[in-house]
Amino acid sequence: RRIRLCSTDELEPGAMKSVDIDGLPRLAVYRLGNEFYCSEDTCTHGGSSLSDEGDLAGYVVECGLHSGKFDIRTGEPCAPPCTEPLRTFPVQRAGDDLYIDFD
Ligand code: FES
Repeated sequence: RRIRLCSTDELEPGAMKSVDIDGLPRLAVYRLGNEFYCSEDTCTHGGSSLSDEGDLAGYVVECGLHSGKFDIRTGEPCAPPCTEPLRTFPVQRAGDDLYIDFD
């Protein structure tokens, strides 16, 4: 199903935020310039919220709990102790609104 995440003006460039939608895992939405990305928000290592407790530096989100890192474009882990990828979702933009397809 198609899920509306938020509007573009809810995120400053370089920022990320969590989105809670009934029936879905908690999601994180990231903005870099005018590019938008989305992944699951929960670190695959220890369950920390990436968007609430982590840091975003370029395409890399760092977990606030043990400093593991993921590439937000692919979800691939890029620093230990993270080894399991994050699930990511291509973001579609329609006007000022951001969507993903979630099945
Ligand atoms: Fe994220 Fe450990 S919980 S690196």
